[in-house]
Amino acid sequence: MSTPLRVGLAGLGTVGAGVAKVLIDDARALEARVGRALQLTAVSARSKKDRGVDLSGVAFEQNPVALAERGDVDVVVELVGGEEGAARSLVESALRNKKHVVTANKALLAHHGLALAGLAEQNGLALKFEAAVAGGIPIVKALRESLVAYPVTAVRGILNGTCNFILTQMESTGRSFGDVLTEAQKLGYAEADPTLDVGGGDTAHKLTLLASLAFGVAPDYAGMSVTGIQHISPDDIKFAREFGYRIKLLGVARKTDKGVEQYVQPAMVRAGTPLADVDSSFNAVVAHAGEAGAFFFEGRGAGRGPTTSAVIADILDVARGEAFAPAFGRPAKTLHKAKALPHEERVSAFYLRFHVLDVPGVMAEISRHLAGENISIESMLQRGRAPGEPVAIVMITHEASQIAVERALRTIAASDKVFEAPCMIPMETV
Ligand code: HSE
Repeated sequence: MSTPLRVGLAGLGTVGAGVAKVLIDDARALEARVGRALQLTAVSARSKKDRGVDLSGVAFEQNPVALAERGDVDVVVELVGGEEGAARSLVESALRNKKHVVTANKALLAHHGLALAGLAEQNGLALKFEAAVAGGIPIVKALRESLVAYPVTAVRGILNGTCNFILTQMESTGRSFGDVLTEAQKLGYAEADPTLDVGGGDTAHKLTLLASLAFGVAPDYAGMSVTGIQHISPDDIKFAREFGYRIKLLGVARKTDKGVEQYVQPAMVRAGTPLADVDSSFNAVVAHAGEAGAFFFEGRGAGRGPTTSAVIADILDVARGEAFAPAFGRPAKTLHKAKALPHEERVSAFYLRFHVLDVPGVMAEISRHLAGENISIESMLQRGRAPGEPVAIVMITHEASQIAVERALRTIAASDKVFEAPCMIPMETV
């Protein structure tokens, strides 16, 4: 008879309690599935308060790192969070002490993934992180083990539920970013400090991991350009609709002849395409897998059920004890730093919105500065007829270099007829 897989669980928040509950309540079903018992032997949390799970008979550690040193733990499940501190110490120490690791920690892996993957491999251990990207969507396993026959050329995703919820609410109510964020915080949908979510950092952490899995490059968070959704106005959302688009915060990683392009940016996504239709707090990923075609994954990217589902799947993989795929799908020593596509070589069509004084010549002035940077306008609209008053002018450009557009906008913003910094959003046409 096989020995049980003994689990040490660090973090008993919403997800941790969900994982503990499934391990305990569904122990028989899990054992029947993998042919091996799973035993929750130790947990660590800030307090011993009741979490609706019977933890009698399970050892309690105040310090999570102590789980890595216990003789009765084979796999450490890290649900502490944070790129440094206890989470990093626990994962490093677990791998050094020959324990497998399952984690939901995108920030830790985005910053230290290469070193941790190397450490896991040297010790013949699993380092699994399905729950770190897009919650319950099995995109990590898909990129690591399934979409492998043909090189993946691009991955695009809506990877942050908070941002997608805010953008969806702004669209349906016409309210401002600030208003919707405040309400989302009151309802507990958004964190008290929302910076990591709305600033794009959380999406960037997840995209870093997807790019590594997709292209066989080292996770490179620092090399990514990141723009959040704070500057998006209800007007932009309304104009997007008029042009047949919706605004989504996308993480995009694309392989080009010149290098790997990786960015997080609000983008205009054509209405009616799969990503455009992803609403509320849902996440979604489109992966282009060469001759295998494009695949679309959608589901809940956070919360107790979806994240628990991903963590349990990883624990079961460890229990099966198959030869462990390297953490990022390829041996860590082969994961080289991606050759980043230089910023100045990024090319796209753009949505541009100017808030200007409605006086003769303002349009000509804007057009002249755009033409000076070789930027051609595909379509344009102006709303409101109020001579001498501020109006919005909106343009969609033909493909242009982003750096040229940024240069033109800086010049235009300096005009005394232009009221606020122009808004620029790339058109995501594929
Ligand atoms: N805060 C994230 C979101 C979930 O809003 O999608 C955890 O990464």
